[in-house]
Amino acid sequence: MITNTEVEKRGNQHPSHIVDFKHDNDKIYFTTHNGVILELTILRDSAIRFRYATEHVFEPDFSYALNDDVSLGYNELEVKEEIPEYVITTSKIKIYVQKADLKIQIVDLDDVVICEDELGFHWEENFDYGGNIVKMSKVCHSGESYYGMGDKASHTNLKGKRVNNWVTDSYAYGKDQEPLYKAIPFYVGLKENIAYGVFFDNSFSTYFDFANEKRNVTSFWADGGEMNYYFFYGPKIGQVVEAYTDLTGVPELPPLWALGFHQSKWSYYPEKKVKELASSFRKLKIPCDAIYLDIDYMEGFRCFTWNNRRFPNPKKMVEELEKDGFKTVTMIDPGIKIDRDYWVYQQAMDNGFFCRRADGPHFKGKVWPGECKFPDFTNPEVREWWGGLYKEMISDMGVHGVWNDMNEPAVMEVPTKTANLDVRHDYDGHPCSHRKAHNVYGMQMVRATYDGVKKFTFPKRPFVLTRAAYSGTQRYCATWTGDNVATWEHLWIANVQMQRMCMSGYSFVGSDIGGFAEQPNGELFARWVQLGIFHPFCRVHSSGDHGEQEPWSFGDEITDIVRKFIELRYQLLPYLYTMFYKYINNGLPMLQSLVLYDQEDTQTHFRTDEFLFGEQILVCPVQEPNAKGRRMYLPKGKWFNFWNDEVIEGGVEKWIPADIDEIPVFVKEGAMIPKYPVQQYVGEKEIKELEIDVYYTEGIENSSVYEDQQDGYDYKKGRYSLRKFRLRGKKNELIIQQFKDGNFITPYTKFKMTFHGLPFKIGSIEIDNEVVNPKDIKLNGNNVIEVSKDFTELHLTGQ
Ligand code: GLC
Repeated sequence: MITNTEVEKRGNQHPSHIVDFKHDNDKIYFTTHNGVILELTILRDSAIRFRYATEHVFEPDFSYALNDDVSLGYNELEVKEEIPEYVITTSKIKIYVQKADLKIQIVDLDDVVICEDELGFHWEENFDYGGNIVKMSKVCHSGESYYGMGDKASHTNLKGKRVNNWVTDSYAYGKDQEPLYKAIPFYVGLKENIAYGVFFDNSFSTYFDFANEKRNVTSFWADGGEMNYYFFYGPKIGQVVEAYTDLTGVPELPPLWALGFHQSKWSYYPEKKVKELASSFRKLKIPCDAIYLDIDYMEGFRCFTWNNRRFPNPKKMVEELEKDGFKTVTMIDPGIKIDRDYWVYQQAMDNGFFCRRADGPHFKGKVWPGECKFPDFTNPEVREWWGGLYKEMISDMGVHGVWNDMNEPAVMEVPTKTANLDVRHDYDGHPCSHRKAHNVYGMQMVRATYDGVKKFTFPKRPFVLTRAAYSGTQRYCATWTGDNVATWEHLWIANVQMQRMCMSGYSFVGSDIGGFAEQPNGELFARWVQLGIFHPFCRVHSSGDHGEQEPWSFGDEITDIVRKFIELRYQLLPYLYTMFYKYINNGLPMLQSLVLYDQEDTQTHFRTDEFLFGEQILVCPVQEPNAKGRRMYLPKGKWFNFWNDEVIEGGVEKWIPADIDEIPVFVKEGAMIPKYPVQQYVGEKEIKELEIDVYYTEGIENSSVYEDQQDGYDYKKGRYSLRKFRLRGKKNELIIQQFKDGNFITPYTKFKMTFHGLPFKIGSIEIDNEVVNPKDIKLNGNNVIEVSKDFTELHLTGQ
């Protein structure tokens, strides 16, 4: 790794003074005497792109990260030339561009500095490969914090760290290990309660130094390509993440079963074992929606083949599993076995789809099947072909989802663990070497997979999972955090990785619950399930080397605890699905680190463990053995303890009891949490009533429930149901108004409402201004009522 100081020594070049200036609609160009051009694009009042060229030449403008329909448009744009600088003003921010050296300072409308260049843009020519090593350095102010950056296994606040983005197969990685499986070169800065974001859209190996090398400097650089970054102004962290997410995109809604519990292992085979696994779930009444087949279902690890001895009739097996409520998800890797008699290999050879080395020979690397060649997924023709390969698996065999692994690409027995840097790629018509294509290789593979799987599952929704990712991969698939280890430290890592991924625009994430390598004991497994059910993607997976890792593998006590929590996940499905809806509609991260939830409270800036599941449920995992509870910080506001309804005024650190069968969970006052009955799999039961847990507040709180057919695309034609609830609590009164949107008719017409913390005994009840006799709708004493009408206003008054 080249350090910043080394780079300085080898001769940095800097922009000189500005000699030319041009303003053309949303673009402003500054040219310096020594040939640097800064192209500034105003995407929105609070989103600006900065792009630098040297020697007066920009490379063709192309990126895999960007979403097709980014929201564009600003309200105001003024460009003024003053004596030392140019001043660009939008309705949100001002940008000063220094005439002497092209340095940038971005301030808010009160002239408070948000982000400013230290050295700013500089570069060094790359004599080995041509082009430049491009660099940017910013001032790091005291008290400034940094978040985001994808899957880094480090403290949520990155201040003081240096990280590298180079997607890497990282079996049994450790805390702070760099780099990992994903390259998401996006961070959020928080300075004096103003949040901003920087997305360095450069697919080469990138480095970010957050005041690690120099206390007052944050810098980032890349081994090649352009200095091309987007700046987003908040001032709230949520707004920054939403802006980044808008730029790089969101997925479509997954089928609801994809949010259920999934069970995986390397590997379940033969068919008999898979069937036994399925029937154990049903026998023990532990809900489960999907079973995964790892590489051993294939014939000699050849992708798109089946081992007929292990799986004599896959179509029948998949069908039978489906009847029992299980979806089947199969693995597909990028490496194609070199085998003249293997049709996938032949097709790729005949069509010239495999990657080549610089001088012409094919690139070869060892993976599970032995020597393999690798399709160039950065070629659109290859992606089209690859997508088509799923036809048999999905359309004929009925497989429901696909899992793409080893797509960094991982290569065995070589020190770099990946392809040689001279390997050539099409890069969608911008030919380049692996130095530039490496970080997007897995993304383009899973993009091809997604397009293919989607075509063949239609009119149902596809489910696809990836290990490697670059910014924007969230548009295509869910992801998991790779080969973790069954240790308590990894439980901590899983927690911060999921929060960080959500902060980086990628919400559909989960860890291998229980740990992939090594074997958890029952306690660690139970604690991990307790956390894992609050992650958007919830799957147990393990290497299978060290014994079983099923919910019942650790004795009856643990089985009961695991069942209780998986059941809770199924009860919370409508809440979780609504979180997903908000994520794809507003870019709202599904998990919120405390700092994202309340950045004004400086106590939150260095918290790692507590997070919000959606907007109203606070979770804090127990991460130590033998614990009967833990200390945790509750953010400001009032919180109901989920297990006993005790109300705690937040803004304090407190000991919260949580024996092995509990995890600290709190619900925000005023929240209305929708629940489904426990089902053994999504769709097992018709939902006859919507249960809503109503948590009293003296004040106002909004909640919502999104529902649709749980699969298919009718929701895009308006066939969805969005119930928005507005709860208003007074001392002796509670009013709940419901506003409905969409034209999906939910299968239920009843609402069972359980009131928590109601400070009065219910006297009278009015539904849509009609008085009803409390006796007719009250259940279980004071706290539960059943409303058998799709009400618009419910009014409770105390006795
Ligand atoms: C990789 C994956 C892991 C999988 C294994 C075998 O290590 O990360 O999830 O089980 O390969 O396919």
